[in-house]
Amino acid sequence: MSTKVVIQGAAGRMGKTLIRCIQEGKVEGLKLAGAIDLWDVPGIGEDAGINSGAKAAGVNLTTDLAAVASDADVIIDFTSHFGTAGNAERVAEWGTAWVIGTTGLSNEELAEVKQAAKKVPVVMAGNMSLGINLLCNLVEEAAKALHAKGYDIEVIERHHNQKADAPSGTALMLGQAAADGAGLDLKKSQVDGRTGHPGARTKEEIGFHAVRGGDIVGDHTVLLAGTGEMIELSHRATSRDTFAMGALNAGAWAVKQQPGLYSMKDVLGL
Ligand SMILES: NC(=O)c1ccc[n+]([C@@H]2O[C@H](COP(=O)([O-])OP(=O)(O)OC[C@H]3O[C@@H](n4cnc5c(N)ncnc54)[C@H](O)[C@@H]3O)[C@@H](O)[C@H]2O)c1
Repeated sequence: MSTKVVIQGAAGRMGKTLIRCIQEGKVEGLKLAGAIDLWDVPGIGEDAGINSGAKAAGVNLTTDLAAVASDADVIIDFTSHFGTAGNAERVAEWGTAWVIGTTGLSNEELAEVKQAAKKVPVVMAGNMSLGINLLCNLVEEAAKALHAKGYDIEVIERHHNQKADAPSGTALMLGQAAADGAGLDLKKSQVDGRTGHPGARTKEEIGFHAVRGGDIVGDHTVLLAGTGEMIELSHRATSRDTFAMGALNAGAWAVKQQPGLYSMKDVLGL
């Protein structure tokens, strides 16, 4: 029996990639059961597979999540922070597993997701790729070894010119890993860019720098700079397929889990 997947944000960059990967059978056992987006996007009413540059899916791009979600096994959401949080209560009611790739959620919005995770399995990650989730472990280890020895930690991220939030969800994941390793509280340590006369850097700071331009899929570097040397731990996404494959694997995994909030590290066993 196939796992029935609904893609929320189906006309977006990630939504189309997810649908194409399902149609190409890149993760076994998944079937597109719904493709949802807002009423004003191109392609509403048309076949979602064709709209994503893949073979026909027999499922149209529509706007009514409720019409497809209660009968589905998993909803995969790559939309916008308010769109995601706004569905939390309904997803919990439907009892459908939920994979959230959307980034930039506020603490209040995260609280709504956590509430839903009491009733359904939810996998949430600012980055769904194997490489970034592994890199988080490496960053934590490096920060643990080096921060107490005086190395400064900065996170530099580069994305396409349409990206809405900054710093990226991935940069925040990497920053959190660095803070965990260094024994810092990221809420207190995070410094977003610098301008004017901020003065000398403190030892507790973790700086975040967001570069935006062109069609960059996603570049992240964690810099650990000491006296006379620096280490750069970097990841470059060359295609959105890496995020889509991660999210689809997370969907296949989530349907077998008990309610709760999970990360990609749980999915990947890292
Ligand atoms: N976790 C990851 O691995 C990962 C990877 C890439 C992007 N992202 C995040 O995923 C999100 C989407 O990225 P994108 O590049 O595909 O953006 P995008 O703007 O290309 O696509 C978002 C789509 O969601 C739709 N949408 C917005 N609100 C909606 C709602 N309430 N209901 C239905 N559809 C809605 C939009 O119309 C649009 O088609 C962003 O938050 C981005 O940061 C996460």
